[in-house]
Amino acid sequence: MSDKLWGGRFASDVTSDVLQYTETVSVDGRMLGHDLWQDVVHVMMLRESGINTCEDTCTLLSGLLTLEGKRLEGQLLLKTEDEDVHLNIEHLMTGIMGDVAGRMHTARSRNDQVQTDARMVSREWILDAVHELSLFAKDLATSPLAELTTVIPGYTHSQAAQPMSVAFWKAAHANALLRDASRLANAWERVNVSPLGACALAGTSFAIDRVGTASLLGFIAPIDNALDATSTRDWTVEVAAAAASGATNISRMQEEIVVWSSNEFRLVEVHDSFATGSSIMPQKKNPVVAELARGKTGRVVGTLVQLLIMEKSVALGYSCDLQEDKPLYWMALDTYLETIRLCRQQNQGLTFNATRGLDLCWRNLSTATELANLLVSTHGIPFRTAHRIIGDLVSGLVAADKTLKDSLLVTQRLTEHGISTSPAEVRQTCDPEQALRRYRSTGSTAPNQVTLQRDEIVRTADRNLAWCEKNQQMLSTTRDAAFTKARTQLQEASA
Ligand code: ARG
Repeated sequence: MSDKLWGGRFASDVTSDVLQYTETVSVDGRMLGHDLWQDVVHVMMLRESGINTCEDTCTLLSGLLTLEGKRLEGQLLLKTEDEDVHLNIEHLMTGIMGDVAGRMHTARSRNDQVQTDARMVSREWILDAVHELSLFAKDLATSPLAELTTVIPGYTHSQAAQPMSVAFWKAAHANALLRDASRLANAWERVNVSPLGACALAGTSFAIDRVGTASLLGFIAPIDNALDATSTRDWTVEVAAAAASGATNISRMQEEIVVWSSNEFRLVEVHDSFATGSSIMPQKKNPVVAELARGKTGRVVGTLVQLLIMEKSVALGYSCDLQEDKPLYWMALDTYLETIRLCRQQNQGLTFNATRGLDLCWRNLSTATELANLLVSTHGIPFRTAHRIIGDLVSGLVAADKTLKDSLLVTQRLTEHGISTSPAEVRQTCDPEQALRRYRSTGSTAPNQVTLQRDEIVRTADRNLAWCEKNQQMLSTTRDAAFTKARTQLQEASA
């Protein structure tokens, strides 16, 4: 007979190649503390439901507390031979107390157990990610006030379009980060529900208390249907999708930083501690963190696709395909969280070149639209006609290698079109900094509008941070309460 814990019907053991191919110990490590918390709660419930005796429960709890103590000291090492975290713990428990350890697994299966752990890990990650995203958004929205009036060109089609402020650009990215945070926070109510007690797939004939275990584990409620509880991985898809979208948003910001760092743009510079040099070209300063944030997005997006494909052909009920819900998923969550953290730190040392921003706005005629608007607002010309007149004027400027800064020339050209204006009016209209101040539509780059946007970002970020704090607190209090309850039971039994 195989000496595996499930070995009763097997004449021989798996080969070592099969073990290496099928084990999940290599990715289960981060669920160890959660599995022990879950074990403690399950064991106490089995006693309260009259399934295990008081004596066996004490033996089990004392073993679990010993293992938890070892874990906290970093002494609890998992062995590949024991397949996964669950069988490792049961094996260790057997080593401590013999056959009584087997009473821990009544009315439970690894199928509900592993999903309970994975959801516990994921909810903590959601809190971490929402926290980091909100801090990053807040940093972007509280940058120096001077950035409200620091102009840089805004681009469409990678062609300079209209001037915008640095603060406006940052607020745009902050809004995206907050949407990513809100997608993750929305997933909370579907992630933080308990599969425990679903057992293998159909529930159990034991009168277990699933509401009680869910509550001692900090879940909102048990999942209604046991088959669904053990089969679904759509919640990982949901989290991975939010992460994929989030990583993609950050990637777009980093793309701008990379491009704008080039000598051709010279709009922005990352701090030296976020760049590396070249082994051959002494002049190089490469914005490697921004590049990698862009590059690593592939891992996160790839994970979403991997999860969808892994899941799509698995009939309901556990199949081993489903254990592939973890390796890339964990990696993607780590990658995305690290990316948020590093990009936030990079942002703190990011400097915009205001002189260059203004110069580029002038050079690339980014206020031509303002001149067309002037013809509409003060000369009564229909916008389409104004657009043609300024288009013609711009074409002449470009041919003569001039810009809108040459207000005398611009005034003359406008006179040729029958429009009488003055160089001072042209100058005022075309000055990118003044143009910025004249914007007034809601959501625009006007300093007062961006101030409103920044205030709203800070309010939302603060609400998010309070939500994270409340749930983090709830999880740690619930965990402490479960372990305290176990210790108290042990003390009362020995008194
Ligand atoms: N290690 C497995 C996983 O990660 C746990 C569930 C295994 N269940 C089973 N019947 N083989 O999904």
